[in-house]
Amino acid sequence: MTDVVVVGSANADLVVEVPRRPAGGETLLGSDLVVHPGGKGANQAAASARAGGATRLVACFGDDGNGAFLRERLEAADVDLGGVWMVDRPTGTAIILVTPDGENSIVVSPGANGALDVAAVEADESGWADARVLVLSMEIPAATVDHAAAAAAARGIRVVLNAAPARPLPPETLAVCDPLIVNEHEARTLLGREADGFEGLAQGLLDAGARSVVITLGADGALFADAGGIRREPGRLVRVVDTTGAGDAFVGATACELARGAALDEAVRFAVAMSALTVGARGAQSSYPDRSVVERFLAAG
Ligand code: RIB
Repeated sequence: MTDVVVVGSANADLVVEVPRRPAGGETLLGSDLVVHPGGKGANQAAASARAGGATRLVACFGDDGNGAFLRERLEAADVDLGGVWMVDRPTGTAIILVTPDGENSIVVSPGANGALDVAAVEADESGWADARVLVLSMEIPAATVDHAAAAAAARGIRVVLNAAPARPLPPETLAVCDPLIVNEHEARTLLGREADGFEGLAQGLLDAGARSVVITLGADGALFADAGGIRREPGRLVRVVDTTGAGDAFVGATACELARGAALDEAVRFAVAMSALTVGARGAQSSYPDRSVVERFLAAG
């Protein structure tokens, strides 16, 4: 039984806390290095599983220590790794600098993620019979994203696409996004022009073909739009330690809720709460709470 299939990246996150971002040519001393499980796809799968969704990850790991580390952490989060391929490339890594305000700068070395090709996805599709939602993000080859979106749509599986990092999407892929989830910067990149505020960005992406759109607004929550109009879910006041992976928690939580039959409004409300809870702890997956914690947080108002 699978509720949510995530086709995406997996990285070992090499994290150093720094007092500020270094300038070009500058050497800065930071904290001891900490390695966390990461990668947008793996993070989204972990978030969906923590939120209670039966979740399968389709990804590529290298046959190395980082691959073994990711496997162990994702299994502990209850993610089905039956769709993970071992390939002859190093497991993806991300170099992450975190500043005292909790913000990060990330450089990804895709490694094995670059081997997640159309054939790897096709080989997994027969196992998607009872899946309700497919989650995609953009740290894997573009052709793989487009193929997986089309394959899911053809099977009646709802497509949640997180266009991060942003790159233009072909109209056929945009047309099956329900929702397309982006931050403000990604929304502008996809739209390719200025728009009137967040509402204008969301409307522009709907007009471009997406079935529904969610724009994440960090501490200010999210704005979302579909045929029912444009609505906002306010942010929640929390202490910020590290925002890494908060957007992925939002995507995974949204997918899980939609797979459970929630309306977009309810899914976004749950996802805002879950992602807010992640920023109080370090790392991406390492900071994701279980469903019961999110429900208590929501009940507390
Ligand atoms: O969105 C956060 C993630 O981006 C990190 O875990 C890092 O691996 C990069 O993929």
